[in-house]
Amino acid sequence: MKTVSFKDWDLKDKTVLLRVDLNVPVQDGKVTETSRIDRVKPTIDALRQAQARIIVMAHFGRPEGKFNPKYSLQFILPVLQERWDVQDVDFSPVCIGPEAQQRAQNLRPGHVLLLENLRFHAGEEGNDPAFARALAALGDFYINDAFSAAHRAHASTEGLAHLLPAAPGLLMGAEIAALEQALGKPQHPVMAFVGGSKISTKLMVLENLVQKVDYLVLGGAMANTFLLAAGHSVGASMAEPDMINQARTISAKAAARNCQIVLPLDLTCVEKLSPGVSAYSHDATALPPHLRAVDLGPRSIENVRTLVHKAKTIVWNGPMGVFEMKPFDAGTNALAQAVAQATKSGQCISIAGGGDTVSALENANCANDFTYLSTAGGAFLEWLEGRELPGVAALSAKQGNAA
Ligand code: 3PG
Repeated sequence: MKTVSFKDWDLKDKTVLLRVDLNVPVQDGKVTETSRIDRVKPTIDALRQAQARIIVMAHFGRPEGKFNPKYSLQFILPVLQERWDVQDVDFSPVCIGPEAQQRAQNLRPGHVLLLENLRFHAGEEGNDPAFARALAALGDFYINDAFSAAHRAHASTEGLAHLLPAAPGLLMGAEIAALEQALGKPQHPVMAFVGGSKISTKLMVLENLVQKVDYLVLGGAMANTFLLAAGHSVGASMAEPDMINQARTISAKAAARNCQIVLPLDLTCVEKLSPGVSAYSHDATALPPHLRAVDLGPRSIENVRTLVHKAKTIVWNGPMGVFEMKPFDAGTNALAQAVAQATKSGQCISIAGGGDTVSALENANCANDFTYLSTAGGAFLEWLEGRELPGVAALSAKQGNAA
């Protein structure tokens, strides 16, 4: 996709409205994972170097269009100052109107002003033109560095791009490039790992992937639904019997496209899922009624490892088993490590993202060895579904944005 580069703009003394994603995990008022903050630092640095005045816009949680102190962004100021290494980030307790305008005018070149949670206004999620215009009145340029919110057509992720000269931030650019490399014009064979509990939430992902990849490895409980659809018994395992027809349709589409769906050959099973219980490896085609699958078994791991050695492009979304409870992270760990190894040796590129994926790879100690880790959850999934993300589409230079 062709976009404008903000590096071509003369930003000295100009005010940039920068959309980032500060929807970060928080426990007891403390940010527990800072990657969404850290990964926009290069954009902040570039804008400070260009002597731009930087107004940071973000949402936090789902306050449903009303002020709610629980979702105020004020608490995050010290974290931004530390992680972005900037002094005195100013905060505007309102994101539009005279007070926001006053603070925007007081902003000095190279300094940062954070606006209060945009979702305190219904106009944000409603993509209300009046709300977008009120935001646009605060600045001269618009940069969107929130790929992880790009699946939302909101005022700050979509509407603003039509009102000001608009460009992607450096993180947004990197996310788009990585995903295009994985599924746009990838090097074949392409292999996708899709795990997680339900195929009902990933139907469109699976339908799109079978048209694009050569191997689709299924793990987690969603593989059980495909085993059921193939006529196997899955014992007491989690599965979705009402999705059997959809699983069959996806399998037929895969066969027609020469995409091999790789199902487990054996499974690690327990009688009851709790820490320290005994586990058994069992053939995946006939689990007895009292056994429940919690991970891939050793033969499955070996089978997939052999395929990993052939792949040139690997996309990963979702864990292969109940990775949160050791030792049922063994399948996810072994295969993630195989992908990491293949990436390090230069054999393939690997891109991972969405939901639990990054924590599963961190647990496997190989998150840093993948070629690219997306900061996105829902947006990564929608991209895998083959959908156009409104926040990305709005930045397309073809659309003649105001630059
Ligand atoms: C996310 O955390 O995935 C994004 O910030 C989007 O948040 P939302 O699902 O509340 O729109």
